[in-house]
Amino acid sequence: MKRMLAPSILSADFKVLGEQIRTTSENGAEYLHFDVMDGMFVPSISFGMPVLKSIQGVSSQVMDVHLMVMDPIRYVEAFHEAGADFLTVHLEACEDIQAALDKIHAYGMKAGVSIKPATPVESLLPILDQVEMFLIMSVEPGFGGQAFIPESLDKIKTLRAMLDEKGLNANIEVDGGIYHSNVKDVLDAGANVIVAGSAVFKGSIGENVNGFMEILRAY
Ligand code: DX5
Ligand code: ZN
Repeated sequence: MKRMLAPSILSADFKVLGEQIRTTSENGAEYLHFDVMDGMFVPSISFGMPVLKSIQGVSSQVMDVHLMVMDPIRYVEAFHEAGADFLTVHLEACEDIQAALDKIHAYGMKAGVSIKPATPVESLLPILDQVEMFLIMSVEPGFGGQAFIPESLDKIKTLRAMLDEKGLNANIEVDGGIYHSNVKDVLDAGANVIVAGSAVFKGSIGENVNGFMEILRAY
């Protein structure tokens, strides 16, 4: 499976957001991770449809939208309109996950399902063949800059084994506390899409992205 980097713009400098997105793209990051927070499902509030709409056309990156919002089915159409390619919802935030997945697909987007650190990976079994990307949170959602939770590696391994057993090749994306120093452990566990916020946007963006791309390409 192709290994991709998905810089999380939550850690970007919003005074120069377009310029920073372009730098991540020019240095090889194929996805752009867009962290939507509602202040209910997670304590923070970040940004939403108007910002996603405003960055359309800045790069040709895959818009990887991570909804950390309650009852996300309410926003499927709006994020489709704003330019989402992947729309990822939290299992814990959906009354009816099947209905959410059906609506995401009905609007022509790829569906992602995310689980928080405390949610067992086995809870994904009923929807294993209906999702294009699983997002394993390796930090408690809500903030950038947190430390990677090591127990996440077992969840990634278990999920990859569950998918392999059924001959499914969905993306496994991992999100939170990933740096050049620990990204290989995440890849070894079976992930193929790497989210990085602080590790990309703090310091030299070009060098940070290149550092990840070297590791991903050599893997
Ligand atoms: C946290 C977000 C993550 C976060 C990653 O709730 O889902 O995408 O921005 O940031 P870092 O890479 O700094 O942990
Ligand atoms: Zn995220």
